[in-house]
Amino acid sequence: MQREQHLSNAALLARRQAAVARGVGHAHTIFAERAANAEVWDVEGRRFIDFAGGIAVLNTGHGHPKVIAAVKAQMDRFTHTCFQVLAYESYVELAERLNALAPGAWPKKTLFLTTGAEAVENAVKIARSYTGRPGIIAFGGGYHGRTNMTLALTGKVAPYKLGFGPFPSDVFHATYPAPSRGITVDDAIASIEALFRNDIEASRVAAIIAEPVQGEGGFNVAPPDFFPRLRQLCDAHGILLIADEVQTGAGRTGTWFACEQLDATPDLITSAKSLAGGFPISAVIGRADVMDAPAPGGLGGTYAGSPLGCAAALAVLEVFEEENLLARARHLGEKLTSALRTLARRHRCMAEVRGLGAMVAVEFGRNADLAQPDAETAKKVVAACAERGLILLTCGTWGNVVRILVPLTASDAIIDEGLAILASALGHVGVA
Ligand SMILES: Cc1ncc(COP(=O)(O)O)c(C=O)c1O
Repeated sequence: MQREQHLSNAALLARRQAAVARGVGHAHTIFAERAANAEVWDVEGRRFIDFAGGIAVLNTGHGHPKVIAAVKAQMDRFTHTCFQVLAYESYVELAERLNALAPGAWPKKTLFLTTGAEAVENAVKIARSYTGRPGIIAFGGGYHGRTNMTLALTGKVAPYKLGFGPFPSDVFHATYPAPSRGITVDDAIASIEALFRNDIEASRVAAIIAEPVQGEGGFNVAPPDFFPRLRQLCDAHGILLIADEVQTGAGRTGTWFACEQLDATPDLITSAKSLAGGFPISAVIGRADVMDAPAPGGLGGTYAGSPLGCAAALAVLEVFEEENLLARARHLGEKLTSALRTLARRHRCMAEVRGLGAMVAVEFGRNADLAQPDAETAKKVVAACAERGLILLTCGTWGNVVRILVPLTASDAIIDEGLAILASALGHVGVA
């Protein structure tokens, strides 16, 4: 088909609605034309500042020159062999690098896949294979993907699970702590112990899977003693601990893995999203003895650990070192948190600002009350920001949390410009 000369968002939206399944949601009705670092231009030539980063994928920004150069060089050599058929060094080197970065004073091994959901699926397979047990405990408000197994693990019904059951069995949900809502770590641990009494004996549980900061669930940060308590419980019952770092990983929170800040070392870590700066690759990294439980041929996939993804991820690791992006994530986290808290003092609808490193969000609640979630205002603010040239995303159990996942490579000037748009949008929406 010949490409239209003058594309408009409205015309493309009409074509999209006619041609694409409606189940694929859209946060914005904007069609991208090109992007660079933390800026995107749409098909009508409008410029936007990107505080969404393609949902946590662009810690190194859109089209980082080093990442693009690495992928182009790889494309000139070969684009696909399937690692199980003809292996390549970049896969092995990336595994070596991630094994060295992951916490834990034991030998580690890594498996590469393509999407975050696939990494979680494989972490579950590996945990079941190692322990010989079926049960998996996940958490309410957790998000682990859209495949059948990961939907079973995901702790939010609408829109993810609606109408898609039945889901795999032997998956149970415990309560994730939320101190500002009065849910303590004791409550969370008690909810797991209740599962052991009411649903599945501890000796049949293979793994507990938890996000260090719940991403889609609303940027709920694990209190400092939560993962250590999970670790104790796992050790007491021979259960493996899986940290799902698909959203928190690859430097977003100020350390390469958020679990480095947890005072508890997981047996397995899942990673994806920003790992390859916009190219699809995901990973399971973990204890070598656990990772080696499945027999040869039990793990893998046609595109798993694609050479393009490996080349991109190795370049991302270099960019992190050269541009000191872990320190930048911590600096941005402080800058964003302090700016949002200043706005929250003026707007009572901003009930809580929270986050870890540069994974920062604000939860909207009427009269600054978390018990009165205000998704309507959150949506209006995101829409008003988009009208003014800032892309943001919502998340959270009630859809009332606005999250920031801006590239860590964004300049202070761009961050300030984005924050000024947010301030103006809040004024425009006219919220108290
Ligand atoms: C914590 C977590 N796990 C798993 C996934 C699924 O990743 P993907 O969408 O790449 O399958 C996501 C995606 O948002 C996520 O945030």
